[in-house]
Amino acid sequence: MNTDAWMPGGVALDRPSAARIYDYALGGYHNFEIDRLMAEKLFALYPDARLAAQACRAFLRRVVNFLATQGIDQFLDIGSGIPTVGNVHEVAQNANPAARVVYMDIDPVAVAHSKAILKDNPNATAIRGDVRQPEQILNHVEVRSLLDFSKPMAVLLLTMLHFVTDDDQAIGTVRTLRHALVPGSYIAISHGTYDNAPSEVIKQVEEIGKGTPTPPKYRSQAQIRELFEELEVVEPGLVYLSLWRPEGPDDVFLDWPERSLTWGGVGRKV
Ligand SMILES: C[S@@+](CC[C@H](N)C(=O)[O-])C[C@H]1O[C@@H](n2cnc3c(N)ncnc32)[C@H](O)[C@@H]1O
Repeated sequence: MNTDAWMPGGVALDRPSAARIYDYALGGYHNFEIDRLMAEKLFALYPDARLAAQACRAFLRRVVNFLATQGIDQFLDIGSGIPTVGNVHEVAQNANPAARVVYMDIDPVAVAHSKAILKDNPNATAIRGDVRQPEQILNHVEVRSLLDFSKPMAVLLLTMLHFVTDDDQAIGTVRTLRHALVPGSYIAISHGTYDNAPSEVIKQVEEIGKGTPTPPKYRSQAQIRELFEELEVVEPGLVYLSLWRPEGPDDVFLDWPERSLTWGGVGRKV
């Protein structure tokens, strides 16, 4: 395939990227041989990986649909990854064509591809940044020009805060973001966990993490709850992804929710 449209110069192709591995797991095309090899190693070690990625993506869709019904029309999606089918702007603008979305990721390939697919969409853009520097995100000129901080908005931190391995930094990051929002805004978080995971699975997933440049730190439900400080957690609370407002019997892992290894919830600033 022609990669010119989405592959920026200077991208290291000798190291796998979490964003591109996730894209491959979801059936996307924005990945390289090095990512596919790592992903296949991952699937062999941890056969649930593809379904877990699908569960994360389905949670994103249900959360954005819910937020749209609450009147939210601006979204800051941090750690957004590489756009695959069912992106935030597609779901949000389907509900409200005027909805505005800023995507942000640390991975240059994710940002380049996001920019390419959004070039004709005046209400959505993508920037590069590091969630560990939340002030830089909040003061970014494109964030400020597209999003109105005097009105409610949603910040999405989906399947990404486990890459912030320092606990205080993770809590402090969410706190800084929360302070920038007006009441009526929302913060959605999904986060990897080993709660209730068989020890064999823990070993498998840890092994995979060691092989990546950014090994994640999975946290317990109690630790993840701390990220929601001062937020009113909406029903059904912080639950395994498939239990968050499921849509039907075909939802991934509905019959065995802990298999997603991910807790998710939505908090409202009051
Ligand atoms: C598993 S993907 C999640 C994608 C999307 N949020 C979703 O739920 O479908 C995790 C993303 O977090 C990004 N990421 C990791 N560390 C980051 C950081 N410090 N700042 C911003 N993004 C980061 C990765 O590049 C990757 O695209």
